[in-house]
Amino acid sequence: MTDARLTSSKLLSDPQWLSAQAHVSWGKEVQLLKHLGLQDGMSILELGCGPGFVTELLLDSFPASKLTAVDLDPAMTELARKRLAKHIPHKVEILQESTGSTSLADESFDFAIARYLFQHLGAPETTLEETSRLLKSGGTLAIADIDDDLGGIIDGGLPSFSTLMNRLRGLQSKRGGNPHIGRKLWRLLRDARFERLTLDAILTHSDELGLEPFLPQYHPDRYQSLLSTEGGVSQEEWEQYRREYDLFITSKTAYIMSLIFVASGRKPPNTSA
Ligand SMILES: C[S@@+](CC[C@H](N)C(=O)[O-])C[C@H]1O[C@@H](n2cnc3c(N)ncnc32)[C@H](O)[C@@H]1O
Repeated sequence: MTDARLTSSKLLSDPQWLSAQAHVSWGKEVQLLKHLGLQDGMSILELGCGPGFVTELLLDSFPASKLTAVDLDPAMTELARKRLAKHIPHKVEILQESTGSTSLADESFDFAIARYLFQHLGAPETTLEETSRLLKSGGTLAIADIDDDLGGIIDGGLPSFSTLMNRLRGLQSKRGGNPHIGRKLWRLLRDARFERLTLDAILTHSDELGLEPFLPQYHPDRYQSLLSTEGGVSQEEWEQYRREYDLFITSKTAYIMSLIFVASGRKPPNTSA
C-alpha cells in the first residue's frame, strides 16, 4: 500500500515526464543555483530526488561536490540507485527517508535543493525545520516548484488540457498536496527563520527550445491513469484530449511556455562563538 505521505506525488512522478521536465529547464536552473551561491566542491543535499535525473545533472555540473539525495518512495530510490550506481558511494549517497525526518547529522550541508517536492508535502514546515538542522550555518536552501495559476501558456490548440489539469490538481489537493505552493514559498522560508530570501521565475518556451522537449508533459498517456481514478476524467474527455494532442503536435502555430518558481533562503550564520 502507498505511504499516505506519497499519495500526492504518486500522481505526478512519472519518470519519463520527470526526465523531460528536468532537462528542459536545467540550463537556466543551474545558472540560477550558481547565482544563489552553489559552487563546485560544496556538500549538496537533494530533497525528494525522485529517479535521480536532477542528481545526475548536479553531478555533471558540480563534479567536485558530494551529494546526498533523499526520497521517501522506495520505487524512486531504486531507480536513482540504478541510474547513479557508478557514483555510489564515493560521490553520491541515496537515502530512502522522509525529508521531514532524516538520519543525517546536524550541519552537514552547504546547499540544499528541493525540486518539485514542496507541492507534495502535507507539512512543509517539518521539512524546512529538518533542512535547517541539516544545513551548516550560512548554508542555503533553494526550492523550485510550481504555482498552478501561473504555470505557463499553451497556444495553438489543446483546449482540453485545462480540464485535465484541473482534475489532476483537484486530486492533488485532496491528497494533501498544494498546487499553489509557489506563492507560499517566501512565507514558509521566512517563518522557518531563513534569511536573505529571494524569489525568481524560470521561463522556458518552445520558440527557443522546440516543441519536442515539452511534449512528454502533454502526451495523453501521461493522463491515462486519471481514467480509473475517482474524480479523474471520463473516457470521452480523454479521447477528446488525445485528438487535440494529435493535431497540436503537427500544428505550425503550436506554442508552449512553462514557468517554475525558485525561492531561496540562507540559514542565519552562527553568531554565538
Ligand atoms: C515530482 S517528484 C520530483 C523529483 C525530482 N526532484 C525532480 O525534480 O525530478 C517528487 C518526489 O518527492 C518525493 N517525496 C514526496 N514526499 C516526500 C517526503 N515526505 N520525503 C521524501 N520524499 C518525498 C516523491 O517520492 C517524489 O520522488
